[in-house]
Amino acid sequence: PLDGVPEVVDQIPLHDATWALPPEGTDPRVIAWVEKMAHLTTPDTVVWCDGSRREADELIRGMIDQGTLIRLNADHRPYSFLARSNPDDVARVESRTFICSADEADAGPTNNWAEPAQMRSELEDVFAGSMAGRTMYVVPFSMGPLGSPLARVGVQITDSPYVVVSMGIMTRMGHEALAQIHPDTEWVPAMHSVGAPLSPGEPDVAWPCNATKYISHFPETREIWSFGSGYGGNALLGKKSFSLRIASVIGRDEGWLAEHMLLLKVTNPKGRVFHVAAAFPSACGKTNFAMLKPTIPGWTVETIGDDIAWLAPGPDGKLRAINPEAGFFGVAPGTGMSTNSTAVETIWGNTIFTNVALRPDGDVWWEGLTDTPPDGLVDWTGRHWTPLSGVPAAHPNSRFTVAASQCPTISDDWDDPRGVVIDAIIFGGRRATNVPLVAEARGWEHGVFIGATISSERTAAAEGIVGELRRDPFAMLPFCGYNMADHWQHWLDVGEGLRKTGGVPRIFQVNWFRKGDDGRWLWPGFGENGRVLAWILERVEGTAAAVESPVGWLPAPGAIDYAAAGVPDADWAELFAINPAAHLAEADDAEKFFGTFEGRVPAAIIDQLDELRARMRAAQ
Ligand code: PEP
Ligand code: NA
Ligand code: MN
Repeated sequence: PLDGVPEVVDQIPLHDATWALPPEGTDPRVIAWVEKMAHLTTPDTVVWCDGSRREADELIRGMIDQGTLIRLNADHRPYSFLARSNPDDVARVESRTFICSADEADAGPTNNWAEPAQMRSELEDVFAGSMAGRTMYVVPFSMGPLGSPLARVGVQITDSPYVVVSMGIMTRMGHEALAQIHPDTEWVPAMHSVGAPLSPGEPDVAWPCNATKYISHFPETREIWSFGSGYGGNALLGKKSFSLRIASVIGRDEGWLAEHMLLLKVTNPKGRVFHVAAAFPSACGKTNFAMLKPTIPGWTVETIGDDIAWLAPGPDGKLRAINPEAGFFGVAPGTGMSTNSTAVETIWGNTIFTNVALRPDGDVWWEGLTDTPPDGLVDWTGRHWTPLSGVPAAHPNSRFTVAASQCPTISDDWDDPRGVVIDAIIFGGRRATNVPLVAEARGWEHGVFIGATISSERTAAAEGIVGELRRDPFAMLPFCGYNMADHWQHWLDVGEGLRKTGGVPRIFQVNWFRKGDDGRWLWPGFGENGRVLAWILERVEGTAAAVESPVGWLPAPGAIDYAAAGVPDADWAELFAINPAAHLAEADDAEKFFGTFEGRVPAAIIDQLDELRARMRAAQ
């Protein structure tokens, strides 16, 4: 065997399973857990994954033979593959995502709670024998740079080779991660099965899964159990399940934050470097903003992460952040040269595509990659497709999975084990009304209030009227592993600590999606968002002027060159227009939302709502 590749040992008598030996020095707790899980799920074979290229090659070759992966034309897309999922397994299933805290109130009103013992008994039933006829892979991984004080380790068990290869891209996976687990290391066991056992001789399918799904989290014991899905956040358990749901609980207990945020490094024309963390709900262009090419002259934006940030007060008293991931699991549709040329350049090769369309030349396509679809497409379900088919060629949640290191704008400090110092935090949403293009929070408490009230209109609301708002506090609605009201208190506490050490970042709100009376976007977005980012960092630097308003500090006249972005004066004024009646109606909606938390919303957040109302009444 190659260096570091475990030798396969024949027939250790465990349900006739063939075992690869765990690498020497493997923590006995990990070995005991793997043995227990193998007894439960009865796989044919157990493989300890080493994270090597050879291992990935073998798994990929097997998936091509099985029909799980289609090899793309290497002349166009070297070492790249297309997977087509089962049509019933195409996205995260929030309705089957559970937080199984001992006390229901600790899950809060925004999570599905399940009683832990009851959930354990259901899981034991569905996992029993669930890997029959399959291989069980043991996938050790580090979220964050190996050995970083901010990094955490986990071990995922899975029966999906697609998941193994994807985890190899999205995390630091393999032997080195396993070697981080010492007898006193806290590690997260992450159990996964697609839930499709094979009886002897039964042929496999390209994308095995189960109609019944469980994405279950046990916050007190830091465990993840995922059953029935092979897709994205349901199955790549280092991502949403570990790095957000479980890590948010660990962070609450230890004094740090696990957030649904992108991370950027920004350099101004004088060469001063800043770092920014920004939270946007899913489908608000986080990956685009993380790969922004600013139109404003002299400014450079580099990428650190596009989905998740872990933020912790550092030894220097400043707020430091890492991207715990090692890759991007980006939405393909809408990614093109005009919207995100950096992403297009990133996925030149070494990329796994899932549920995109296939071109006759063996390359991939999706809506938005080019203006007009090429001829002869095969859609994500494997059927011939034309523009007359009446359905998209690529699934709207189709994805690319690619290493972060392949991104041409990746920052030199993106994997700094100390993390980067955060200068500004941005909260964004998708709002047609009320929320201005940009505002600076009045202080940390006001900033936390802004984060707690992030929302989007369910439908396009008429100007001046509050439509039904979908609340997505901190863009964490599906991802917070505990009561969100406690999450806001935790933010207040972290801010209080940072205030004492002089490391409180400034907080801003942005909204790229405001519309005029006529339904037009008022702001061009994309590269022009760099002008807003520049103002934010000039505020941090103390060089940009602002005017006070009931929603926070707004850019002073002349502080942002909107004319250079092609925005007329009237649209600029509308981007910042404040309708006190609409804000007061929205405040009532926020109060109703806060009411669902049964008295757990922090007093400082209720105070912020009262103060906002007072400012709006004064403006009426
Ligand atoms: C996911 O499904 O894993 C995922 C990244 O989801 P989202 O794009 O909603 O964050
Ligand atoms: Na999703
Ligand atoms: Mn996300």
